[in-house]
Amino acid sequence: MSDAPAIPAKRRVGVLISGGGSNMAALIAAARDPAYPAEIVCVVSNVASAGGLAKAAAAGVPTAIVDHKAFPDRESFERAVVATLEGHDVEIVALAGFMRLLTPWFIERWHDRLINIHPALLPSYKGLHTHARALADGVKIGGCTVHFVRPEMDVGPIIVQAAVPVADGDTPETLAARVLVQEHRIYPLALARVASGAARVVADVEGRERVVTDHPASRDGCLVAPA
Ligand code: GRF
Repeated sequence: MSDAPAIPAKRRVGVLISGGGSNMAALIAAARDPAYPAEIVCVVSNVASAGGLAKAAAAGVPTAIVDHKAFPDRESFERAVVATLEGHDVEIVALAGFMRLLTPWFIERWHDRLINIHPALLPSYKGLHTHARALADGVKIGGCTVHFVRPEMDVGPIIVQAAVPVADGDTPETLAARVLVQEHRIYPLALARVASGAARVVADVEGRERVVTDHPASRDGCLVAPA
């Protein structure tokens, strides 16, 4: 018998994408670290031409296409996605630019094991075109959020957020590019905390949920914009 400390098993993660997959690539890169508590065991796209599929394949991660257009309804599409994920013994599902609304059936199937990244500081700016709407409102701080998924769109207990100052002259594209850099930073962080059990959902007496972690935020930091 070896005296070497046992390495805890990595949680098996499936990533759902519809597009370029830069967040997916960030998760795959982070999971290469032997100490990372999760491994990316499959990438599923509902879009056959999604650029992320080639990136995943190049990284040696199995890929699958489940084209929603090939199914008569949302439920049969989702059953096919679940079958693919189950075929890889997936325990946690990460949505990374996955552009289909999911039914409560799918979401509850992965309760507290389904996470999403959104390019805004939720609960502000749910939905699409977040950066254009934030700029139109003149906000000085934008950002991104990783959260557990609940049946309402872009709603669910927040795991990690990053704040990004808005610059004079920002366009939706320039702001999106700076926020994306932070997305690639917080998504691996959030997944690690979910996979390790450090991030847990708790509810107050009124049933309102939030996430507690074993990683308290620094208490003296703040972001002022413009500084
Ligand atoms: C990201 O901005 C993500 O927050 C949003 O869609 C974009 C996907 O980008 N949900 P990528 O496919 O991860 O590059």
